[in-house]
Formats: sequence, C-alpha cells, structure tokens
Amino acid sequence: MRKRQVLKAVALVVTALTATQSIADGNTFKIGLILPMTGQQASTGRQIEAAAKLYMAQNGDTVAGKKIHLIIKDDTTIPDVSKRLAQELVVNDKVDVLAGFGITPSALATAPIATQSKTPMVVMAAATSSITQASPYIVRTSFTLAQAAVAMGDWAPKNGMKKVVTLVSDYGPGIDAEKYFVERLLFNGGQVAESLRVPMRNPDFAPFLQKVRDLKPDALFVFVPSGAGAAVMKQFLERGMDKAGIKLIGTGDVTDDDQLNDMGDGALHVVTSHHYSASHPSATNKKFVEAFQKANKGMRPNFMAVGGYDGMRVIYEALKASKGQGGGDALLAAMKGQIFESPRGPMFIDSQTRDIVQNIYLRKVQRQDGQLYNVEFDVIKDVKDPGKTK
Ligand code: DHB
Repeated sequence: MRKRQVLKAVALVVTALTATQSIADGNTFKIGLILPMTGQQASTGRQIEAAAKLYMAQNGDTVAGKKIHLIIKDDTTIPDVSKRLAQELVVNDKVDVLAGFGITPSALATAPIATQSKTPMVVMAAATSSITQASPYIVRTSFTLAQAAVAMGDWAPKNGMKKVVTLVSDYGPGIDAEKYFVERLLFNGGQVAESLRVPMRNPDFAPFLQKVRDLKPDALFVFVPSGAGAAVMKQFLERGMDKAGIKLIGTGDVTDDDQLNDMGDGALHVVTSHHYSASHPSATNKKFVEAFQKANKGMRPNFMAVGGYDGMRVIYEALKASKGQGGGDALLAAMKGQIFESPRGPMFIDSQTRDIVQNIYLRKVQRQDGQLYNVEFDVIKDVKDPGKTK
C-alpha cells in the first residue's frame, strides 16, 4: 500500500516536472482567452468557457507536438480591462493567440494590441461589422448583426409586418442591427414608425415599451445583447403588447438559447433571424449539444458557445497547418480561408475580410420535447457580412 502511494507521488512529481519543462522548452502553445466572466455579460463568458473546454476535451490538448495552454481572464465586461489583460498576456505570458471578446467595445479596445504585437485575435462573440477592420490580425467566428438583421428586414414586410418600431441597445451592434434591418424593410415597402435606442448598461425597457404600445406598430424589432432578452420578453408580455396585436421580432439574441426555456409560453411563435439554434437539425449539432449538456449540467449551448467552439477549431487547425511552428503571421494565414461544418451549419472564414460567411436561418419559437426552442423554418445560404465597407 505504502509502496503504491510512493510510486504515485513520484509519478505526480515527474508529471509536474515534465509540464514545467515543456513550458520552458517553448513546447507550449498559449491561448489567452479574455471573457466577461462577471458583470453584465457574464453568461457570454460562461458559455464560451464551457465550449472552449469541451473542444479541448474532445480534441486533446496536444496539437502538432505543442501542448495547448488555455489562460482564461475575466475582463468583467469592461473594455479597458480587456485591453490591459491583453497587454499582460502578450508581454508577460507571451501568448500565441488572443481570443474571446464578449462585447464590441472590448474587441475594439484590444485591436491595437493585436496589431502592434502581430498576435492573431479570434473574436468569438462581439458582432459589430467594423471590428474586423480594426486590426489586420482579427479573425471572427461569431456573426455580424448586419448579417442577421438583413434576413429579418426581408422576411417581416413580406409576412404582414409593414409598420415597425425598432428598439436597439445603443452601441455598435444595436446601431448595425437598426441600420441593416431598416434598409431592407424600406426596400421591401415597409415603414419605420420610430427608432428607439436604449442604454447598453442597465437598461430600463419600460418607458420605451410604453411608447411602442402607443405607436401600435405591426411589429417591434429588437436587438439587445445576449442575456438581456428575458427582461425584454417579460416586460413586453406584462404590458400585454402581444394581445394588442404587436408582434415581437428581432435577431436571435433576444430569444437566446441560454434563457429561452425560462421565458415561458409567452415566447411561443416569436420569429427571429440568426446563425445558430440549439435545435439546428444536423448530426454535427446533435453531437455538440449532447456533449455540451453532458459536460455542463443544466446548461444549453447558445450562439456564444458555438462561436467559442468554432474559434478553438480555427486556432487548432491553424496550428496544425503551420506544423506547430506558430508565429503570428503564419497562424493568421492559416486561419484565413478555413472552411468546415460547424454545429451551426457550414461556415467559412473569408480570406479578404477575415470575417465569417455562414447561413442565416429564420426561426420560430416552438415547444419540442417539452422545451422551448428556436425552430428553423427557412435559410439564406452563405451570407457575407453586408456591413463591410471595403
Ligand atoms: C454583442 C454582444 C452580444 O451579447 C450580442 O448578442 C451581440 C453582439 C457585441 O457587443 O458585439
């Protein structure tokens, strides 16, 4: 018994030494994952962390002879903190890749660090079109609001919703969502009764929703960041706006899979446009959702999780393609043009823009197997970001 314990202790010491040595040898490949683990967007951090860890558990932590070391940092949903953490990760930890970025201001604040240090920066969540233009080292695996909103601007007026009020969170992604939705709505013969913008931090939707009720549009188009959808839905229903004949529509952030199941039957039949639903009917997605739920009891993967999972894949494949050599420029080159089947469906990293090209789905909230899901009923294939200015 004692002998076995001694052997076990020796084995542990040997493992620890090997691990230290591989760091010293430069045989590690470090990914600095900057996420909002606390603060307003904490659910984004929780989802992406779970997905990144799942990807590593499924694909191993050694790639092209390098040991992958994931360093997770909490930016508390504050852009200045994201930037400081990125600087520390690059200078002190010498990370090979920066990744994560829950909100647009965090991604934009960090972009100069990526440029100056020639470190690839994989944006897994933030979704304002301009982000990829803020640094030539940025690659995106999430989506853009312009991509998602255009599909709704085509669908709504063709389905009886001509007079629409828009209500968006007053920062980058909200402004993109409003712009691209309205442009398509007008093109399709619709009309905007009013465009409302709510503060991004601690929004109070009540006065805005009262105004919408008074305007009596056919529909209310909403963008709020992941995690804020349940509050909008609750207040929309409490004011009886659905009973007043006003339809709630939006990009899929409002019926986020992370929260949807708790929204109740009031959410039934809400139509949104988005790139990912946990109920996407493919074998790849079924496997992903099952594995995610097995590893994270009580959690359902949302679009943030899929951005994190695919971001890890893009990093792993870039390291493989560059034969473990690393180096910012070689990695970046190997990220561009990657094409594969994601749990969301087929996806592609456009070499010119470094942005994602993917399907956008129209989905309706329905009950399946006792749970609420965004059930896809139509698809617009291979949508590029319409918000690119070059
Ligand atoms: C952004 C954040 C979100 O939570 C979301 O759902 C979409 C966009 C952003 O800040 O870019």
